[in-house]
Amino acid sequence: MSNNILVTGGAGYIGAITAWELVRAGYSVVALDNLSKGHREALPPDIPFVEGDIGDPKVVEEVLNVHKVGQVIHFAAFSLVGESVAQPWIYFENNLVKGTRFIETCVRNGVKNFVLSSTAAVYGDPVQVPIPETHPLRPKNPYGFSKLGLENVLESYHQTHGLNVAFLRYFNAAGADATGEIGEDHDPETHLIPIIFQTALKKREKVFVFGGDYDTPDGTAIRDYIHVTDLARAHIAVLEGMEKGLSHHAYNLGIGRGYSVLEVIREAQEVCGHEIPYEVAGRRAGDPPVLVADNRRFLDTFDWRPAYDSLRAILRTAWQWHKNYADGYAGGGDDAV
Ligand code: UFG
Repeated sequence: MSNNILVTGGAGYIGAITAWELVRAGYSVVALDNLSKGHREALPPDIPFVEGDIGDPKVVEEVLNVHKVGQVIHFAAFSLVGESVAQPWIYFENNLVKGTRFIETCVRNGVKNFVLSSTAAVYGDPVQVPIPETHPLRPKNPYGFSKLGLENVLESYHQTHGLNVAFLRYFNAAGADATGEIGEDHDPETHLIPIIFQTALKKREKVFVFGGDYDTPDGTAIRDYIHVTDLARAHIAVLEGMEKGLSHHAYNLGIGRGYSVLEVIREAQEVCGHEIPYEVAGRRAGDPPVLVADNRRFLDTFDWRPAYDSLRAILRTAWQWHKNYADGYAGGGDDAV
């Protein structure tokens, strides 16, 4: 059996950077993406790319067999909490129904190792901070439920078919590839750091700070920002662990330190040298006040340490990307003609 790696959602933000890191580490990779959200330009140009849907067993079967896939990293999913609250069904259909069909097709076609892109949203409002993996799983929105559902489906295939599974529960992915050429480009953009830098670039008038009355030192919400390249490398560490016998587990991926929205704005001002106007507005529905990872399980299990261990280092890479691609991939790089 071959051990080539399939990356679904490979044209998305985290998927593309993981594909690049896999290629840089010498792995053989194929990417599958329906391009509903992703950008073909984000992918390494030399790897096979299939435009198709994870919910289409024919396409998936062909990809798995033609490219002799033995391992999967599954990113393809919708991931906006607010949208999931407004339209639960599209999250359950896209993430859970299609995701389950995709897993079944993988198992029937000889996939042995399966890494799921999961989320801190499976925990809901924390009753303990930093949050360990043993924290109660009580999602507060359909997005979190859809990911928790997939974790359970995978756990079941682990029990019945011996599929090696890992659920990587990301906290807040941030930053860009060190080249400044691959980064975050969502439409619509809802994430804090891109919005801050779009404001610095005068694409927006100001940042609306969602909530100034949380029970936190400055009243704004606290998040654990982890660099996207560190996240990508964590997936590689897990696949390598599976080759050595790791069979099933959930892992938090964060750097274990939280920053408030106002701290992020202040640090970003230092990094880009522009003033960033902001206005404190009401809370955003569904936002927990504090999300910080207890990441000890991952640190204890794998030979992995975050290369970007400060918010400033993460923000520098994000700023580089936003300067280069102020209008996202469609606008081309700063040297595009
Ligand atoms: N925020 C603002 N203003 C903005 C955008 C965000 O104040 O314009 C705040 C949010 O309220 C939150 C923090 O900045 O407190 C970070 O918000 P992001 O939207 O950047 O990220 P989230 O923490 O909401 O989302 C992340 C992942 C999701 C995941 C979620 C789990 O991006 O995929 O954590 O709660 F579902």
